[in-house]
Amino acid sequence: MFSLTSTEYASNAARYDDLLQQARSLIADEADFIANAANFSSLVYHSLPELNWAGFYLFDGVELVVGPFQGKPACVRIALGRGVCGTAARERRTQVVPDVEAFPGHIACDSASRSEIVVPLVAKDGALIGVWDVDSPVPGRFDDEDARGMEALCAAFVELAWDKRAAA
Ligand code: SME
Repeated sequence: MFSLTSTEYASNAARYDDLLQQARSLIADEADFIANAANFSSLVYHSLPELNWAGFYLFDGVELVVGPFQGKPACVRIALGRGVCGTAARERRTQVVPDVEAFPGHIACDSASRSEIVVPLVAKDGALIGVWDVDSPVPGRFDDEDARGMEALCAAFVELAWDKRAAA
């Protein structure tokens, strides 16, 4: 059984380092992509403070479709270029949004969301996999350190969940 730690951390970077190790060990031995995506969402949602949504939107070849997540039910389909998720997917660049209401075209799935971070997921061959989306009820919850931490988590996820699945 996997047990979530409730350690106090000296810094946000230390928290992400620990979370990265936990994520790697949680998904390293499993080849099922959906199982790994579901457990990854749960791990992050329950390990980081002040979140109200954490999960995946997966690219189906046309648009983004909601995948495994933790939080309230969300909008199912998002066109590339729409909202924060669609922007991250189209530009293939992490979006850190301190105030979702100030983001043009933001899609309000949970009215509690005040800030958000979205990381694009891109395979080794350059194909778009989807995005990793995390929302907070706290304005300005995510900074550059969160962006680097989430990007490291997503890189490990792509390596251990997607590349392995694609090779299977
Ligand atoms: N806020 C997102 C939509 C997805 S929900 O946050 C889960 C966006 O504007 O892309």
